[in-house]
Amino acid sequence: MIKFDVLTLFPNMFDGFLSESIIKRAIEDKLIKVDITNFRDYSDLKNNQVDDTPYGGGEGMVLMCDPIVKAIEEKKKKNSKIILMSPQGKRFDQKMAMDLSKESHLILVCGHYEGFDERIKSFIDEEISIGDYVLTGGELPSMVLIDSISRLVPGVITEGSYENDSFMDNLLDYPTYTKPREYRGMKVPDVLLSGDHKKIDEWRKEKQIESTKEKRPDLINEKIIKEVGKYSLIDDNSNNKSLVSINIEDSYNFLPNNKIKKSDLASISKVMIVEPTFIDKIARQNVEKKIAILMKQANIVLNDETDDEGAMYVLGEIDRMQGLLLTQYAKYLGMEYVSLMQIKLEALKNGINTKMMAKMNIQNFETKRGRGR
Ligand SMILES: C[S@@+](CC[C@H](N)C(=O)[O-])C[C@H]1O[C@@H](n2cnc3c(N)ncnc32)[C@H](O)[C@@H]1O
Repeated sequence: MIKFDVLTLFPNMFDGFLSESIIKRAIEDKLIKVDITNFRDYSDLKNNQVDDTPYGGGEGMVLMCDPIVKAIEEKKKKNSKIILMSPQGKRFDQKMAMDLSKESHLILVCGHYEGFDERIKSFIDEEISIGDYVLTGGELPSMVLIDSISRLVPGVITEGSYENDSFMDNLLDYPTYTKPREYRGMKVPDVLLSGDHKKIDEWRKEKQIESTKEKRPDLINEKIIKEVGKYSLIDDNSNNKSLVSINIEDSYNFLPNNKIKKSDLASISKVMIVEPTFIDKIARQNVEKKIAILMKQANIVLNDETDDEGAMYVLGEIDRMQGLLLTQYAKYLGMEYVSLMQIKLEALKNGINTKMMAKMNIQNFETKRGRGR
């Protein structure tokens, strides 16, 4: 038995939800208990005020902490879990529904208007969102939680009927059919009429994988990552983002997961996993080392008047480095860093060029003077 205590300003919104179908039966069978409380009743202010204008200005009204905290304190027991319904919370999914179905008491706090005074967060255990959109209040989200959690409580629906549901085991459900056998030219697949349950199970599993791959490849990837370990390669170029899985838990051997069909595997002769910051560090070290060598060589030719060949060689090497900076390093290190290095190299080149020009001028001068004699 799981008990839900809902704290809301609009209790009537729950009437239909609690008095129909599976949820109604689960309450009657005492498999779940749902109490709806209006936290306005816990306000000590005039007219049972529960909200006020936001500090700092802005639109809308903000729910005060006090009535909600007092309601929580009255409902709370030793094993209670207090959940704040909020679009800013962790996104709700089947796994969370499974985990929460093992709790014995959930207090669901529904917001309204602009939301809650931030300090309410000191009094709750978890903030949950039902999706990336904003609703007018937390009533529908708390009904979503109660509904999805309740159907996982043993006895609420037929045992085992949720085992193949979408999202269990990170797969979507298989296709289902009912009478008639043929509808407007569309036939029920033969295998489902065969009576061979082993074959039917295999077909259903295959369809689950096929459908998940097509509609929700992210779920398949997550499943493999979960089963295989921390590292996986996802082929971003393929349409269905097919996944190549590797296991590097024990050593640096990359082993394809046995459960994966051959068609899911890509053949890779060498895999290198590099942290992006590491590329940056190595690239900078390389550039700085190469520039230091060029500076040393430039220094030598600047101090040796006779080494014209050496000077030409160093000028050629500087040109080559400038080209590498633009074609190879700019994509890792960015243009700002590359421009700085280009200025350094340009200064080196200027030094050598000036020296060579000066030498040529002296030689010309001496040749002319020789002729003049
Ligand atoms: C209009 S919303 C307030 C939204 C808030 N200003 C924000 O942007 O985060 C009012 C209340 O509805 C509930 N709510 C709205 N969208 C929700 C969602 N996606 N999941 C869970 N609760 C939601 C929350 O209880 C929230 O306090």
